[in-house]
Amino acid sequence: MAKYKIAWLPGDGVGNDVMEAARLVLDALKFDAEYIHGDIGWEFWKHEGDPLPERTTEMMKDTDAALFGAITSKPKEEAAEELDAHLKDKGLVYFSPIVRLRQHFNLHTNLRPCKAYPGNPLNLKEGIDLVVFRENTEGMYGGVEFHPIPREVYDVLAKNHPKMKKFEAYGLENLAISTRIMSRQKCSNIVTQAFEYARTHGYKSVTVVDKPNVLRETGGLMIRTAREVAKNYPGIELWETNIDAQAMWLVKNPMDYGVMVAENMFGDILSDLAAQLVGGLGFASSGNIGDNYAVFEPTHGSAPKYAGKYKVNPMAMLLTSKLMLDWLGEKEMAVKLENAIAAVIKEGKVKTYDMGGNNTTLEVAEAVARSL
Ligand code: IPM
Ligand code: MG
Repeated sequence: MAKYKIAWLPGDGVGNDVMEAARLVLDALKFDAEYIHGDIGWEFWKHEGDPLPERTTEMMKDTDAALFGAITSKPKEEAAEELDAHLKDKGLVYFSPIVRLRQHFNLHTNLRPCKAYPGNPLNLKEGIDLVVFRENTEGMYGGVEFHPIPREVYDVLAKNHPKMKKFEAYGLENLAISTRIMSRQKCSNIVTQAFEYARTHGYKSVTVVDKPNVLRETGGLMIRTAREVAKNYPGIELWETNIDAQAMWLVKNPMDYGVMVAENMFGDILSDLAAQLVGGLGFASSGNIGDNYAVFEPTHGSAPKYAGKYKVNPMAMLLTSKLMLDWLGEKEMAVKLENAIAAVIKEGKVKTYDMGGNNTTLEVAEAVARSL
C-alpha cells in the first residue's frame, strides 16, 4: 500500500496540463502515493448541475490531502445559461467549488508564499520574500447574500440600524446585499497562523491588513484580535495597515514586508498583487489548510484558451506540490523540489512563454525532474 492517498482534482482548463506536470515531478521524486481522481468543475455544473458532486467530497474524506488544478467561475446568470436543458429553470445557483471545498472541510488557512527566485526575469526586484495568510472560510466569501432584499431582512436591518432606512426609496427589488461576517475565533486563528509562521521562519514582523477606519466593526474586530494575539509573540512586531495603502506600499517598498495576514477578500486581492511582484500567477502557489486536511492549488485560474495546449507555466503547480510535501511532513522532498525549481529558474534555459521562452509545460517539468 502506498504511504499517502492523494485526491487528484484537475478541474477545468489548464488544470489538467499543470497537474500532468506535477505528476511527472512527484514521480521523479519517488513520492509514495496513490492518486484518486475526483470529478470537479464546469463539466459537472453543465451536465449535473453541481460542479462539486457529493461523490467527490465523499472520496476526499478518505484521502490525506488533495491536489487541485484550476477552476472556471462565472457570474450567476452566465453560469445558469450554460446548464443542460433539463437542468434549466430548476433554480440551480452556481457557487465556486473551490470556495465550497474550503468551507466544507473548514480549510481556514490559505497560505500563499510569493518568493522572488533569483534569475527570474519577471521579478520586480530580487530578494522579495512575502507570505500572505488569507482567512479562507468567512468574511466576504461567507455566501450570505440577497438580491432582492427580502422585506423581513430589510425590516430587521432598518429597525436596528439608522443608516439602513435611506435605501428603502430605491425599492427592495433594486437592492442587493453581500455580507462580510467575521468571527473573533477565525480572526484569532489566522493571525496566530501568521505569527507562528513568522516565528518558525525567522520573520521580524507580521502585517495585518484591513480597513478598520471604514469597516469599523469587521475591520475593527480583526485589528483588535491581532493585537491580542501579538502579545503572545513579544519578539515579533505587529504592523497595522489599510488595504489601499498596503497595495501601494507593496509595489513601492516590497522588501519592507514579510508575513501579511488578511480577511478572505482582502487576502485574495493582496495575494494576486504579491504574486505579480515575483513573476505573476505562473509562480503563485497556495495551500488551503485545515486542522486535519488540506487542499493545495496554484493561485491561477483555468485560462480556457490555453487548455490542453501545454503552454502555461507549471511552476505555480510545482511550488504548490512543494507546499503539499511540506504539510505532509516530507520536508526533505520539499526542499529537494524547491531547490530543483530554483535551479531551473536560475539557469534560465527552459522556460514557458510568460518568461520569454517557448518551452512547453511538460518540458519545464522535465527540466525540474532532471534537476532534482
Ligand atoms: C483564488 C481565486 C478564487 C477566490 C476564485 C476562483 C473563486 O481567485 O483562489 O484566489 O476568489 O478565492
Ligand atoms: Mg484570487
